[in-house]
Amino acid sequence: MSPEESSAAKPRRNFVVAIDGPAGAGKSTIARHLARHYGLLNLETGAMYRAFALKALRVEVPLDDPNALQQLAAETDIQLESGENENRVLLDGEDVTGQIRNQTVTDAASRVSIFPAVRASMVKRQQEMATRGGVVMEGRDIGTVVFPDAEVKIFLDAAPEVRGMRRYDQIGQKGQSSPPPEEVIRDLRARDERDRNRVDSPLKPAADAFLLDSTNLTLDEALKAAESAVDAFLARSSQPIPSQTA
Ligand code: DC
Repeated sequence: MSPEESSAAKPRRNFVVAIDGPAGAGKSTIARHLARHYGLLNLETGAMYRAFALKALRVEVPLDDPNALQQLAAETDIQLESGENENRVLLDGEDVTGQIRNQTVTDAASRVSIFPAVRASMVKRQQEMATRGGVVMEGRDIGTVVFPDAEVKIFLDAAPEVRGMRRYDQIGQKGQSSPPPEEVIRDLRARDERDRNRVDSPLKPAADAFLLDSTNLTLDEALKAAESAVDAFLARSSQPIPSQTA
């Protein structure tokens, strides 16, 4: 590791890298990489909405009943812990990591996350988590709502067809059976539609986010571009504050 890299790798207290973007844009891969590279905690907020949706499905709370969901959120404890490749998700103390990625939970998470009371409860926990130290937090509203003052904001996007095909390939690589690519792309578009058009905290880039479109980038190029956004912040923050802003 070069001297620049080792100084860049020093974690900072409350140093937040916010990564937002639609499903399948590669947020998790980039967040994991940045967290390792800079020694930060990686928190996947989508896993919290998924765990909450799993609970709603289990206790059969209707996914379109805001009052019942609000009550359920108040009674539910969700914790994220860093794991080797993904966060470990604890729902009321039970490890549900392996139960939240199926299509039923995926769809339910997108439905329950439109309700302000559900979001408020998740956002509060997410803000508390960052007090533990520097984090890379990924989701849909991290740079706009959860940490509007995040030191680095990256909005990651890619064309729906590209995201759909990446998702399809990922499922295949895990040895799982996948619906045909057209169906994966259709599901992604439906989720995008809901995530982007909800009234509370819709998916959109923060005004000061670094926009990273990975449609035509290799994984390595996308990782390097994300690193450059963090490096630019580190370089700025290690310099004396200029007397005038540009
Ligand atoms: O990132 P993901 O696919 O695991 O997220 C699952 C759902 O949770 C997604 O459809 C929208 C919702 N979500 C959200 O509304 N806000 C976040 N910060 C993260 C996820």
